Amino acid sequence: MATEPITLNYPTLLLILSPLIIFFLIRIFNPWRRRRNPQNLPPSPPKLPVIGHLHHLLGGLPHQVLARLSRKYGRVLLLHLGEISTVVISSPAAAKQVLKDQDPACADRPKTIGLEIMWYNYSDLAFCPYNDQWRQLRKICVLELLSSKNVKSFGYIREDEASHLISTVQSFAASREAINLTETILRFSSSVICRAALGKDQTANGDALIEMMKKALSMAGGFELADLFPSSKLLNLLCLNKYRLMWMHRKLDSILDDIVDEHKLRKGGEYGGEDIVDAMLRINRSEDGQDSISKDNIKAIIFDMFSGGTETTSTTIDWAMAELMKNPRVMAKAQAELREILKEKKTINSGDIEEMKYLKLVIKETLRLHPPMPLLPRACRDKCMVNGYSIPLKSKILVNVWAIGRDHEYWDEAEMFKPERFEDSSRDFFGNNFDYLPFGTGKRICPGINFGLANVELPLARLLYHFDWRMPDGMEENEIDMTEGSGITVSRKNDLFLVPLLANAP
Ligand code: HEM
Ligand SMILES: *[C@@H]1O[C@H](CO)[C@@H](O)[C@H](O)[C@H]1NC(C)=O
Ligand SMILES: *[C@@H]1O[C@H](CO)[C@@H](O)[C@H](O)[C@H]1NC(C)=O
Ligand SMILES: *[C@@H]1O[C@H](CO)[C@@H](O)[C@H](O)[C@H]1NC(C)=O
Repeated sequence: MATEPITLNYPTLLLILSPLIIFFLIRIFNPWRRRRNPQNLPPSPPKLPVIGHLHHLLGGLPHQVLARLSRKYGRVLLLHLGEISTVVISSPAAAKQVLKDQDPACADRPKTIGLEIMWYNYSDLAFCPYNDQWRQLRKICVLELLSSKNVKSFGYIREDEASHLISTVQSFAASREAINLTETILRFSSSVICRAALGKDQTANGDALIEMMKKALSMAGGFELADLFPSSKLLNLLCLNKYRLMWMHRKLDSILDDIVDEHKLRKGGEYGGEDIVDAMLRINRSEDGQDSISKDNIKAIIFDMFSGGTETTSTTIDWAMAELMKNPRVMAKAQAELREILKEKKTINSGDIEEMKYLKLVIKETLRLHPPMPLLPRACRDKCMVNGYSIPLKSKILVNVWAIGRDHEYWDEAEMFKPERFEDSSRDFFGNNFDYLPFGTGKRICPGINFGLANVELPLARLLYHFDWRMPDGMEENEIDMTEGSGITVSRKNDLFLVPLLANAP
């Protein structure tokens, strides 16, 4: 009996393999699997292939677009921006879970090519991952560089620069001309940071650093193609901005190098007070080699002070002035308080500021509607849950402080500028109230709160005490432009021009 040999031709092979093929097809296209959401991820809007949700971000400022998306799809959202998973959080309860209850699970910062190149490979404090180096630098910043003792000892710089600001405004008041207030205030806050960080006579270096800091921050936001598609070797090779950043870094490095070397030579304290670079060199000398800080740490932290301390402060003063113009009742009340406390005094000192209760409420309310950092940038380093969903490891977290501050769910008449709402409220700046986080919260909360507030209060008080303010020719107060500009800090899109008039007070 002849046996038919079994030939393994294609149809037979297919028949034998068919259960396997069906199994894999089901695994790939299984419609139930997605619905069951086995990874238990937060909800997402519909997305496109390859770019994910990037198209949603076109044509709007990120914090505004994300607020709109959250209203539609949920206060905890998962977006795929290119290859980057991003969890957007827009409710106080969810913010508390992520930033406090499970702190430090989300205490990393997102990484970008711009930060790596410009900030000395994360040798700084603000963008450093949450690790031992961060803890060491954080301690130095909180206990030494930005301590309340230092905030006080920098007081003479603040007063000196505020006087300079006032005399600039006076020259415009004399001719009843509109002054570019945005620019004048930025100059004030930059000079204070420059003198506190680097010492006297560093204006030229300070201006160069500020120019570079602005460019670097605008290129380090994480929206470069190479940041959105990190796995693409081709995109990384073609990322032209990388070469521009490297060129900028070399320029930055030579300036900072000179600054540090100069401070080493002159040994702190020669010109009176110790500046921040002096302090860092002193600390390093006394660490007897154990936890020494490198020169890169020092240079990166200087750059941090400029990026964290200049625009945040000036934009707060700027928005406060704009809101006060828009709300004449609040302006009158704030000025009345100042003039009552100061009577006929020629100038204002830090002691007087403590009595200015209403001015402090005005600043609080300004920071609710205009938090300089609208999106807290964090990254998930450890297993973390929010509202029962799990956050994918290493994803970027954005807490939309701006959206929470304007949400009718949490604030009465949320769109109104009403400083009185804080009068009997326990809300403070220290990250204990998750509906109000202008300085962030948890391990990564801003270490410059006191310095920043002092740099807002004094110039604002003086602008309101010495001058009355009018709109430029032919403009009504309710026409004041409140459009926001783009950038990591939300400043005004258009510079604020106002006419100062010498007040009756001296
Ligand atoms: C009105 C003024 C200011 C505002 C609104 C502000 C706001 C913030 C916010 C929201 C954060 C992120 C917090 C988080 O992730 O939870 C931050 C971090 C930071 N700020 Fe400020 N800031 C101000 C002034 C300053 C000043 C004057 C300095 C220093 C000169 C400064 C230095 C820093 C640094 C170094 C960090 C990073 C801290 C870390 O990652 O550990 N800030 N700031
Ligand atoms: C930063 O450090 C990493 C790892 O140590 C290295 O691969 C990378 O090239 C460094 N980047 C820069 C810009 O120096
Ligand atoms: C405000 O002043 C600065 C510098 O004086 C200038 O560069 C800027 O263009 C001015 N803004 C407007 C809108 O003119
Ligand atoms: C800090 O101290 C260490 C050890 O004493 C030294 O090697 C290092 O160069 C110092 N850093 C700076 C910036 O001087």
